[in-house]
Order: sequence, then C-alpha cells, then structure tokens
Amino acid sequence: MTTSTIQNLMKQMTLHEKIAQLLQLASPFFKGSTEQGHITGPMAAMPISDEHIEHAGSVLGVAGAAEVISIQKTHLENNRLGIPLLFMADIIHGYKTIFPVPLAIACSWDPELAQKSAEIAAKEASVSGVHVTFAPMVDLVRDPRWGRVMESTGEDSYLNQVFARAFVRGFQGQDLANDLQSVAACVKHFAAYGAAEAGRDYNTVDLSERQLREFYLPGYKAALDEGCEMVMTAFNTVDGIPASGNEKLMRSLLREEWGFDGILISDWGAVKELIPHGVAEDDKEAALKAIKAGVDIEMMTACYVQHLAQLIAEGEIKETIIDEAVLRILTLKEKLGLFEKPYRGADVELEQQVVGHQDHLQVSRELATKSCVLLKNDHHTLPLNSNKKIALIGPFADSGDILGPWSALGVKEEAVTLKQAFEKHLPIEQLNIVTGCHVETISSQQLEEAMQAASNADVIVVAVGEDSDMSGEAGCRTNIQLPAPQLELLKALATCGKPMITILFNGRPLDLHGVLEHSDAVLEAWYPGSEGGSAIVDLLYGIKNPSGKLTMSFPDNVGQVPVYYNHFNTGRPQGAPDAQERYVSQYLDAPNEPLFPFGFGLSYTQLSYSDLELTSTQLTKDTDITATVTVSNVGNVTGEEIVQFYIQDLVGEVVRPLKELKSFQRISLKPGETKQVTFTITEQQLRYHHADLSFKSDKGSFVLYAGTNSKDVLSHSFQLISGRN
Ligand code: IFM
Repeated sequence: MTTSTIQNLMKQMTLHEKIAQLLQLASPFFKGSTEQGHITGPMAAMPISDEHIEHAGSVLGVAGAAEVISIQKTHLENNRLGIPLLFMADIIHGYKTIFPVPLAIACSWDPELAQKSAEIAAKEASVSGVHVTFAPMVDLVRDPRWGRVMESTGEDSYLNQVFARAFVRGFQGQDLANDLQSVAACVKHFAAYGAAEAGRDYNTVDLSERQLREFYLPGYKAALDEGCEMVMTAFNTVDGIPASGNEKLMRSLLREEWGFDGILISDWGAVKELIPHGVAEDDKEAALKAIKAGVDIEMMTACYVQHLAQLIAEGEIKETIIDEAVLRILTLKEKLGLFEKPYRGADVELEQQVVGHQDHLQVSRELATKSCVLLKNDHHTLPLNSNKKIALIGPFADSGDILGPWSALGVKEEAVTLKQAFEKHLPIEQLNIVTGCHVETISSQQLEEAMQAASNADVIVVAVGEDSDMSGEAGCRTNIQLPAPQLELLKALATCGKPMITILFNGRPLDLHGVLEHSDAVLEAWYPGSEGGSAIVDLLYGIKNPSGKLTMSFPDNVGQVPVYYNHFNTGRPQGAPDAQERYVSQYLDAPNEPLFPFGFGLSYTQLSYSDLELTSTQLTKDTDITATVTVSNVGNVTGEEIVQFYIQDLVGEVVRPLKELKSFQRISLKPGETKQVTFTITEQQLRYHHADLSFKSDKGSFVLYAGTNSKDVLSHSFQLISGRN
C-alpha cells in the first residue's frame, strides 16, 4: 500500500471510523469480556460501544501468537474496510527470556550487548504477534525513591543517549517493513517523567527549560534520531501543564522543532487525567486539549471517541487534525506491512521454537554477569574457593523473584535461582540453604535456623533485597534501606565472625548502612533476569570477573537525595569533606558525597591509571585533541575495565556541571597487560545551552578527567581557543 492508497482508504472512512483509529484498548475488550480489567493501569469507566471496538486502531497487552491471530482475524471480519489492528505491549527487558532490568543493563556499559538484548526481545515478541513495544524508557533519573528508576539507564544524559540508540536499533532492526522479527519502538515518557518531585510517581515536574533541554531531553531526541517510530506522553506536568495536553511540548518542540512525524500516544488513561490534574473541566475538554497538543492515540480512556466528532461539529477543531493523526497511524500499519500481512511475524509453531531459546538465555546470562556491580570486597573475600562450605541464607536464596518489574511473559518459577546455581556448582554436602527471613518479616525460628547454618559453614552468602513489587511503576519508597527484618538478619549473622558476602536484589540504589558494615563483600545484582542465579555464581567463584559500574549514585542516606555526580558548584562550596566549617554548602549530619559515586564498581584485579596525555592543549572548532590514558592490570587475573572520560567547563555563561561524562570504553586486560585508551575531544562536546537557550561552546579553560569512576580520576587541562557562537 502506498501513501496515495492510504489516502484513498482515508477517503472511504467515515469520521467515526477515523476517530476510532485513535482509540487504544486493552485486549479483554476484543475478547468480549465484560470485565475489561486493568492490565498496566487503573480502569476508568469506559463508555465504549461494539462499534468503537470494531473500528478501534490498536490494542495493548496481548501475548501469544494464537491470541493475536484470533483477535486480528475477528477484527478483520468485522471491520468494514479491513483495517488491521496494531498490537502493542510493554516489552521492556525481554519477552519470555528476561534480561536484567534496564538500570542493570546500563551498568554493563555495553551498548552492543544491550542492543542484542533488544533484538532478542523483538524476535520473541514479534513471533508472538507484537508489533510495537512501549520501550525504550529514557527518562533521566536522579531520585532513587522513584520506583521506575529500575526502568531507566540512570542519571547521565550521555549514557542515556547511547543506550536509547542501542535499544531502538535492537528493537527496530534495519528494515521494519521486511524484517518480521523486528518491532517498532516507542520512546517514553515524553517528557521528564523521571524528575517527579520527591520521587513520587506521577507527581509534578517543574524544571527550567534550560535544565530540561540540557539534561532531560537529549535521551528522547537520540531515540528519534535513531528512527524510533513512536513517542509516549508522560503522566506528569511540564512547566505547569500535563504533558498529554501540553501544546508547547508536543506541537512546538516535538513536532515542529524536532520534526517528529510518527505517532504520539498517551500513557494509560493520561488524557482523562487532565481532569484531576485540574486543566480540563470534563472529558470533552480533556479530548480537546490532548488532540490540540498532538496526541494521536488515546490509551485506555474514551474521551476521543466520545467527544471529537462533536468538537469538530462545534468548530473547536478542524477535521484535518484527525486526518493527520489517522494518517500517521495508517502509515505505521503500512510500514509494518500489516495491510498485506495482518498477522505479520505471529506464528504459533515458530513461537514454540524461538521464545525462551537457549541461545537467548545465554545472552541474558552474559548481560547479567556484566551488569552486576561489586561494591565491596575486603580481604579478597571474593572470589570464593570451591572447597569452602557455604551457608546460603536469605529471602532471595531460593527466590525466582529476580526478574524485576515489567517482565512481560517471564515466569518467576523458571528463573535460575541462586540455590539452583549453587547446587550445580557445589557438592550438596558443602551447601546449606535456609531462608533466614522473608522480605518484610522475620521469625525467631527463621533466625535460629540461619544462625545454625552460618555457624556450621566456612562462608556465609546472604541474598537480600526488595521484592519486585517494591519498585517499578507506583513502587516508590521514602525509606530506601533494606526492610528492617533483613537488616536484623545481617546484623545477627555478622556476629558469627565468618566471612560474609551479601548479594543484593533490588530495583534502585539503596542506602546501604546496615549492610556494608556487616559484610566483607557486597555484590549489587539488581534484578538480573532469567539466568540471574547462574550469572551470580559465575561471579562469586571467579569464573567471570565483575565489571559492572554504577550508572546511578548510591546515596549515603535518603536525606541527600537527589545526589548525582554531574551537579553544579555553589558560591560556597565545601572545602575538605570533613572540615568543620560553617557557612559552606554542606550537611551538618551527613557527607555531601554519595556512598558510591556514579561509575563505581570493583574488579577482582587491580587496575592502575597513569600518563593522561593530550596531543595539544589547544582545541579549535576545526582541530580536535586526542587524549590518551594508560591503563594497566597490576593484579593477578584478567579483568574488564570501563575507562571513563569526563570534561569540566571551568567558566561558562551559566553554571556548568563539575564533571560530565563524554566517552567511555570497555577494555579487557590480562594480568600484567597495559593498554592505552584514547578519546577524541571535539568542540561539539563542549556545547551547552546558554541563558538564551542557544546551544554553543565558549572559549576558555576546561579540564579533562580520565578514570575508573567519576571520583577517582586523573586530570589534564586544555583550552578551547575558538568557540562556536
Ligand atoms: O507503557 C506503559 C507505561 O510505561 C506506564 N503506563 C502503562 C503503559 C502501557 O502499559
């Protein structure tokens, strides 16, 4: 079908048929269910007729080829013009094969592997009938109280962009039209959903436009530059106006300034939510504001189908605004080949072979080993010696709740637990496994069993964390410590005087007081996915060397939040961190610094950085500088390192961050090996949004930092002698 045939089709459509294309419903509506219950959001009353359903444009949350084929078949039989449905779903970090949660994936600093994980997710989802995934989420995050930080790639805008591109490439492949194993991507949540006040989901976002453009918007833009087909609105306000009714954001910025011509979809119920936000009187005004803002598809409320026709009749909007939205929807259907192949990749037989394939699980395992971050390893407690007797204790010792939120068709019972992985590695007589406590409760009997197991072992491995409902959408917490019963367990076990290793399963940076002081080693495993147990055991026994690095700072305590590495200075910066000064910007009762900085992560080997050298100290807009840093493995085992390069602009027109990540490289070093890692500094990397929002660089002094994390760095200064104005 060509553009002109789509236009011909549109000529045959009645206004009501066109408006129904803008409606997205959850799958129960298409199965004649009277309980059209919620899937990934609350259910408002839906005044929807059979006719609306027959003409609806898209469906969300269906899983499985047989079901997709059946819904599509019935739909095509009933739809007068034979317009196929688009099937959309949240394929966030895997379909059936579950990869680590996105925050963990980011800690791998391995965009190629992230892309591979998205390719696999697309392959499994498309054979099961999915056409569009509501991913990637690229919301920049600075507040670990927010439950959805697990779905982000962390606090850095540059990394966000790198991963946004990688995920889009992975989901969409090279050729959406002909590659039936790809799915269209939908970047979300536009915009700044990750900046909700106080880390409470759906809460107000109020950022200056400069802050928005400098830090929050580049992730979405990167996804669109990579060809991402769709955008989802955010639930929050942006400068006082909810995103789903925000013309400045959606029409002026997204469409006009950025030239986005794909589909803009509301989040679940977000059009009707303009009413409780207090910017629309009723459903009709909500529909008016959303369509004027440019929202093409209304997800799971009925404001459009109820009111758009009347709004046209009353002259409030022109029919052309509907036509534009319908054209975008039909164009994506056409691009996906749905007019010719309405079932696209859905294939019941192939689905059995592809979904959860062993090769996919291998990639999940590799990604999980690269995503875990070693936070502490005193006295070389890790790696473990396979001769030691292990007491494996804790609510996550034998738990499949390691897939994390948004794990699509992932089955907890099928995840490789720590217990299963240990049992494969050790003879049964060397292993004693007890629960110790539940996530949020502990009994004296559990504690007694744990102490008994610990006293009979050589080494204690404690598996603790948050259950997956404690993060994800609406999973916000004000206390970001482990639940008290687990802290009690750790404290008690520490009295046994045995080497103690703590494995953390969680969806956010935690306040780790009560964990660190009792543990000789701490491994942050996040929610590691289908192969989590195996990946962790590989790391614990040194079969693999930890190489993950944090992409979100771990606060010292929740009172510091938001705490992030690329903050500004103040007029009264703190001197030495422990100086007892007054009238400087610091807390009286806590450090300014996070407990673990951005970019931090240990290895079983020791790495040494030296000789940060520049080919010149004078940069111009036409001549780049090459920086080289020497990295040596001075330890005893092969290790992978993520070499990080940051730049600081010493004097700007507006205040500039103390450091900004500009480049990184993952390298592998054998014991005794040395590598030189280079980074090309260009004038473009020094551009920023000025007071008038122009994006340009200034002449002046800069500092380049190179190191193993954002804090431990070598530095070298350079000048930009001709900026771009
Ligand atoms: O994609 C999600 C979104 O991230 C949160 N609300 C529901 C949507 C569809 O499931």
